[in-house]
Amino acid sequence: MKGPGPNDPCWCGSGKKYKKCHRDHDAAAPPSGPEVRPAAVTPMRTVPASIVPPTYARTGRPRPVPRITDPVERAARMRRAGRAAAEVLAEISRAAQPGVTTDALDVLAHEACIARGAYPSPLNYHGFPKAICTSVNEVILHGIPDGRPLQEGDIVSLDVTLYLDGVHGDCCATVPVGQVDEDSRRLLRVAEECMMKGVGAVRPGRPVSDIGRAVEAHASAHGYGVVRAFCGHGIGEDFHAEPQVLHHFDPRQRDVMQEGMTFTVEPMITVGSERHVVWPDGWTAVTADGKRAAQFEHTVLVTPTGVEILTAPPR
Ligand code: MF3
Ligand code: CO
Ligand code: CO
Repeated sequence: MKGPGPNDPCWCGSGKKYKKCHRDHDAAAPPSGPEVRPAAVTPMRTVPASIVPPTYARTGRPRPVPRITDPVERAARMRRAGRAAAEVLAEISRAAQPGVTTDALDVLAHEACIARGAYPSPLNYHGFPKAICTSVNEVILHGIPDGRPLQEGDIVSLDVTLYLDGVHGDCCATVPVGQVDEDSRRLLRVAEECMMKGVGAVRPGRPVSDIGRAVEAHASAHGYGVVRAFCGHGIGEDFHAEPQVLHHFDPRQRDVMQEGMTFTVEPMITVGSERHVVWPDGWTAVTADGKRAAQFEHTVLVTPTGVEILTAPPR
């Protein structure tokens, strides 16, 4: 397929000439297939009034929420929200088949959240227009569900967060669409291992930087990159809170893990460059070199002796 000429408008909708915009980026892309392009986004969906919304549901702007004081009660709520998020993720993962649009997966996730009495946390969070993030192939994260049908050989990251009983649960998996090539299968396997290495480093009294150290060591051993520009985060009453959880090792990160803390571990692993470019939609972050990326995420609780995964897949 022939792209735009050098002086034609860029395909991305920026209004700039192709040669001043995505031409170099496209030239560096792998020959493995066409890149992901923006497609039509349907209007924002609504949530029934019976569902308790987070602070930003109307305004788009989150306000900090007071912490639930009883740690036992808080952990119980986090377990319920985490389990519900994992169930929704499992449901839409099964539906990610060739021909299905990411918009259709969004509708499924939106309804599955509501069926559990939960609000889909991304909806209107800083203006994000959909219930989930769907990030295909070279999209690293924050892809907006749209009218692009998934194609055999794609990989798609499905990031589900929901708000239930006053707390958020957040998880992500990257799944193959139909049969995918050996390189992509390896990327998915190692990216999930990286996430689990990070989770395995969670222990009270240890610095948060242990997590990134473990993730980065495993990615490097396989020749993969670790995205630095986006990180894991404290989660609970607020969608995104302290601490930041870096997925590479930074000794300046001095936070120490403590019993009762809840945060995410969500490394983004790249085949090539770990640098990114954001589409004009202001959300979709793609690899700078057009090569594929994968992400896995769990919400975890720091226990007296180690870690409890709150978003474990349902069995
Ligand atoms: N679920 C993402 C995370 O892991 C956040 C998505 S925020 C959105 O932190 F606004 F992009 F939806
Ligand atoms: Co997430
Ligand atoms: Co997260």
